[in-house]
Amino acid sequence: MSNLELAPSVMRFYGETVNEDSRLRCSADGQMELVRTQELLRRFLPPAPARVLDVGGATGIHAEWLVKDGYDVVLVDPVPRHVERASVVCDAYVGDARDLSEPDASFDVVQLFGPLYHLPNPADRSKALSEARRVVKPGGLVAAAAINRYASLFEHVTYAHLHTERMRASVSKILATAEYDGVRGFTLAYFHRAEELVAELTASGLSDVQVFGIEGPAWSLVKAAEQQPGEGPTEALIASALEAARMAEPYPELLAASSHLLAVGRVHADVGA
Ligand SMILES: C[S@@+](CC[C@H](N)C(=O)[O-])C[C@H]1O[C@@H](n2cnc3c(N)ncnc32)[C@H](O)[C@@H]1O
Repeated sequence: MSNLELAPSVMRFYGETVNEDSRLRCSADGQMELVRTQELLRRFLPPAPARVLDVGGATGIHAEWLVKDGYDVVLVDPVPRHVERASVVCDAYVGDARDLSEPDASFDVVQLFGPLYHLPNPADRSKALSEARRVVKPGGLVAAAAINRYASLFEHVTYAHLHTERMRASVSKILATAEYDGVRGFTLAYFHRAEELVAELTASGLSDVQVFGIEGPAWSLVKAAEQQPGEGPTEALIASALEAARMAEPYPELLAASSHLLAVGRVHADVGA
């Protein structure tokens, strides 16, 4: 589907099934995702105060710390119950990454932490990225997150059920097609390879594009400790896995083992001059 309607399974998943507000706060891999997204993004953000558009910002999990850091954040999300919750944190309204209602060159930063992995059609992802690029000021930053193509391979080992016939078939299909149809469990999703994410940002006209593994190569060890019987992951295990994510950064071959990827790119400062 490539019109501007959100896939019904995405709306249902975030509107009724899942509590997105607790995802990064409660699970160990979610906490790793939050810590690493913060530390990676802070390397590239302009000094506060600056204007940040958080597209697909859900209930404001990232908007919250950005506001505390002194940024002026506006959040856009298609799911009304997300927007209602996010309105406590910052200005927030219902909207779609593919058709932003903001003027050209009106934000210092646009972040897309969600939309790209719920848009399996490449034309839709391209629209979302060109909209982000349109509303960023010359010299500004676009940051986009993706779910790694191979994340489900690692994730379903942590639940110790990858060897079952159903999961083997389901994960094999994701690996082969890069898509999940949203029939059960998670919702309609697209899974990027790191080089593909870089190519998509570059094709949208962004320069100096870089990509990082958010959780790094050891996140699934932490998640397995959480999911399997036992005491759960220790603080030392989580700290070690976070360190692995940092140490892996210079080695692009390790990107494939991260759960999420974060790409950043800039709108060339001469644009519009
Ligand atoms: C997994 S949540 C991520 C939320 C948050 N940004 C984070 O990083 O934790 C994905 C978010 O993307 C939003 N989303 C999905 N499709 C979108 C679209 N076409 N435009 C804007 N947001 C979208 C969903 O409503 C949801 O809030």
